[in-house]
Amino acid sequence: MIAFLTGKDLEKYGLSWMPTLMSDKQMVLPIDTVKYQAQEVVGVLASSRYAAADGVAAVEIDYEPLPVVVNPYKALEAGSTKVRDDKDSNHIWHWEVGDRAATDAVLKNSHTTVREHIYIPRIHVASMETCGIVAKWDAINKHLTLYMTTQAPHAIRTVVALITGHLGLSEENIRVISPDIGGGFGGKVPVYPGYVIATAASVVTGLPVKWIEDRSENLQADSFARDYHMDCELGADKDGRITALRIKTVADHGYTDAAANPSKYPAGMFSICTGSYDFQTAFTEADAAYTNKPPGGVAYRCSFRVTEASHAIERMVDIMAHERGEDPADFRMRNFIKPEQFPYKSALGWEYDSGNYHVALTKAMDLIGYRELRKEQLEKRQRGELMGIGISSFTEIVGAGPSKDFDILGIKMFDSAEIRVHPTGKAIARFGTKSQGQGHETTYAQIIAEELGIPADHIKVEEGDTDTAPYGLGTYASRSTPTAGAAAVMGARKIREKARKIAAHLLEAADDDLIWDTNKFYVKGSPDKSKTIQEIAFAAYTNHPQGMEAGLESTFYYDPPNLTFPFGSYICCVDIDRGTGQVSIRKFVAIDDCGTRINPMIIEGQVHGGLTMAFAPAMMEQIQYDSDGNMYGGTFMDYMVPTAVESPKWITGGTVTPSPHHPIGAKGVGESPNVGGPPAFANAIVDAMWHLGVRHIDIPITADKVWMLLNKHGVALAE
Ligand code: CDP
Repeated sequence: MIAFLTGKDLEKYGLSWMPTLMSDKQMVLPIDTVKYQAQEVVGVLASSRYAAADGVAAVEIDYEPLPVVVNPYKALEAGSTKVRDDKDSNHIWHWEVGDRAATDAVLKNSHTTVREHIYIPRIHVASMETCGIVAKWDAINKHLTLYMTTQAPHAIRTVVALITGHLGLSEENIRVISPDIGGGFGGKVPVYPGYVIATAASVVTGLPVKWIEDRSENLQADSFARDYHMDCELGADKDGRITALRIKTVADHGYTDAAANPSKYPAGMFSICTGSYDFQTAFTEADAAYTNKPPGGVAYRCSFRVTEASHAIERMVDIMAHERGEDPADFRMRNFIKPEQFPYKSALGWEYDSGNYHVALTKAMDLIGYRELRKEQLEKRQRGELMGIGISSFTEIVGAGPSKDFDILGIKMFDSAEIRVHPTGKAIARFGTKSQGQGHETTYAQIIAEELGIPADHIKVEEGDTDTAPYGLGTYASRSTPTAGAAAVMGARKIREKARKIAAHLLEAADDDLIWDTNKFYVKGSPDKSKTIQEIAFAAYTNHPQGMEAGLESTFYYDPPNLTFPFGSYICCVDIDRGTGQVSIRKFVAIDDCGTRINPMIIEGQVHGGLTMAFAPAMMEQIQYDSDGNMYGGTFMDYMVPTAVESPKWITGGTVTPSPHHPIGAKGVGESPNVGGPPAFANAIVDAMWHLGVRHIDIPITADKVWMLLNKHGVALAE
């Protein structure tokens, strides 16, 4: 054992609390009060994991039960137990967008209105490779190196510099390296106490210090996602056109607001909740509450609360269609934004770049055999069997910036690419983003190969080292392709323009007389007079025109003019066992549109993984708390993660509607399946039981929940 570190020790350095990304503050180690079950209480430093475990076992904490509040509605009541001594109440923020009065009036006068309370419970990334750090303080050079599991290394470097400035640490002496970190999914954006403790311990002891969570610690104490309680109301006229939408949300953030949203958007991009539908009146508001739980609200494979928004609108649209006795596909087709309406200004202020929703849904319906399934459903229903079909036609919103609206802790959201072409025509490209298995090494190289004609396997892609990569905001919220992907295109084009000048010099021709073709410039009218990119690269270092800077490289910071709006239509078909309540997913079809597809195989992989991560919260995963604040779902005995055995088979396909503002028309894709998936399952299951009187079931839709409903409606089989 080397040392024990307590909150009191950290307090001496002003480090017992740290700022969160949402300008709140979070305990690194407590001094006298813990805020939730499984909170870190002391740091034990030892020279081996075993010794550290012995040290942990030797720690004795004298806990005294204190009143807690775990229900966010109760937390917001006057006189509730206060979670934070430094705050006046448990109310963190109120946020609203849209026209409240107009929405109230339109809903009041609508021919049909449907209301539902929809809850999306806490879930967790449940990392296989957990969060960790190796902090190495070099006292001689006053230099700090942090090897850490972060999705945003540059932002971390700046934050570390800002919060440790008073200790003499300066940004040029901080190097953050994010190596292969396992999956991120939003859970590796926040700063966790373990990172700070390891760093402080390295500074104090002068030794390199490693911290790594085990999977239980990761599951119980890291940031959570969702926990949104939504009261939704949707109106339609007598012809079945949507008139207005209102959603009032209570967001449970745990004991601090440590979500990772852009500063201006405390509820993330929730205002995409008008979805794929054309109507002009909407209002949404959210109130966030402190409760005695770990911090929550990370964008778990979701572009900041879009999964919640998408679930709300897709469930409400389905309820409305059923209420009207209409086929949910027909209802959607009537209400979709039409292709000619793009760019489309939504009721809550977003400008959708492009879309073709009718085609995506038609393709999904053809692929699954929708009309035949509906016939089969009717026949089965007559035999007393339960079968359901659910649709989700979602619109995503990804690619933050533009920097005029998006920042994290004041750091503007753009992204970057630095490309260097070496004399032999090979290249290295570095980015401000950070792949966590999404395959940037492949797709960025493909983008540059396409623009410069250098074979992709001659292009080395690097990310994640703040000493070498250009500044960027990292990878989460499917932002890499819309931002750094675009920077790669623009940077490569800058290089091509310089290459044109060098080729003109070599060919003794005018710049304007040169034509670019795949990997070379040739002289207009004389295709045999040409110089390949490799010849040009060599000349850039050996024979460049006098007066021109030598070398062939570029750095490009891309600030997107708008977000991109990928979309898709998913259809799920389920059978329900009346004896057990077990739901079997018979077929699931996913049609995704992410604009221009850079690498279809990678997209396929993203969609397969994302759909499995949608199936998980729809059918299995949740973390609950009892009224004393005890956690249920803190181990893999009761936090049900799907394995290959439970996961359905996915049938995937796509349409291509390029983004008009991205330089190659690409939109993000990584999160679409997670955003669009859950309501497809929920809609299918409710569809199977609507005729019994079931209107809504909160996810996860477990067999016991279904069986209870079947029993309530008198159709559960006894044996
Ligand atoms: O930010 P993140 O990398 O998680 O998400 P993304 O931009 O949606 O990209 C995920 C992966 O899919 C990357 O390797 C992209 O290059 C690839 N992709 C693609 O091949 N074509 C697209 N239109 C979008 C993404």
